[in-house]
Amino acid sequence: MFHRNGPTFFELAEQAMSSLERGYDLLADKFDYTPYRTPDAIVERCLADLAGPGELSSAIDLCCGTGASLQRLRPRCRDHVTGVDLSRGMLERARAAAEAAEGSARVECHQGDVLSPQPAWGQHELATCFGAFGHILERDEPRFVRAVRSLLEPGGRFVFVTAEPPSMTSASYWRSRAFNAAMRVRNALFDPPFPMYYLTFMLPRARALLEQEGFEVRVTHGLFAPPFDRYVRVVATRVR
Ligand SMILES: C[S@@+](CC[C@H](N)C(=O)[O-])C[C@H]1O[C@@H](n2cnc3c(N)ncnc32)[C@H](O)[C@@H]1O
Repeated sequence: MFHRNGPTFFELAEQAMSSLERGYDLLADKFDYTPYRTPDAIVERCLADLAGPGELSSAIDLCCGTGASLQRLRPRCRDHVTGVDLSRGMLERARAAAEAAEGSARVECHQGDVLSPQPAWGQHELATCFGAFGHILERDEPRFVRAVRSLLEPGGRFVFVTAEPPSMTSASYWRSRAFNAAMRVRNALFDPPFPMYYLTFMLPRARALLEQEGFEVRVTHGLFAPPFDRYVRVVATRVR
């Protein structure tokens, strides 16, 4: 549908009728040819001024997918870099991408739910999460923020991309609402659910949740070139 090496319409439909874990397992080999993979330029732009080569002891990428962020975190870490994802298929891809990247930091991959962090995932100087907030239900966002906090050392930073909510008069607002409504119907009628919603963890709510959990939030506008110029980078530092 998106690229000759990407998934067909029917493969995407099969994915959307599966659980999140199975859906991404099915998609893993072709995921890098879909628009759902965060572009390298976005990840690099987010990290460029935050950490140079070997400046971090360790970092973690949540919902790492095929490794868009993991492969850029590895050269910046001296000790180890950790990826977490529900899907084993995506994790295998992420490990291969990170191990092919520059640097000598150990690559650790853990299959699991980011809402339930495990002691083995460690505590890090930097955490990232890209392209996955749509899978975290609004009611789980406070739990997600607590999970991120528990994975950071005091002073550690959580880096991600979000946006201001679109105006209610814009076409994109109504397209997103229509998609969310269709997804709610799909999830009410069919098991297992495939939670994927637009307009989640947007700037005002993300900021409020992070500040409540003891983060200091810094937002950078104007970092990304079109067509990504409506996005902002958030660096949330764990201050307590
Ligand atoms: C759209 S992909 C994004 C992948 C990658 N971060 C990127 O930006 O290219 C979403 C990823 O989040 C993972 N995921 C969704 N919900 C998750 C959860 N609760 N815990 C762990 N991984 C999750 C999926 O398995 C999938 O690999």
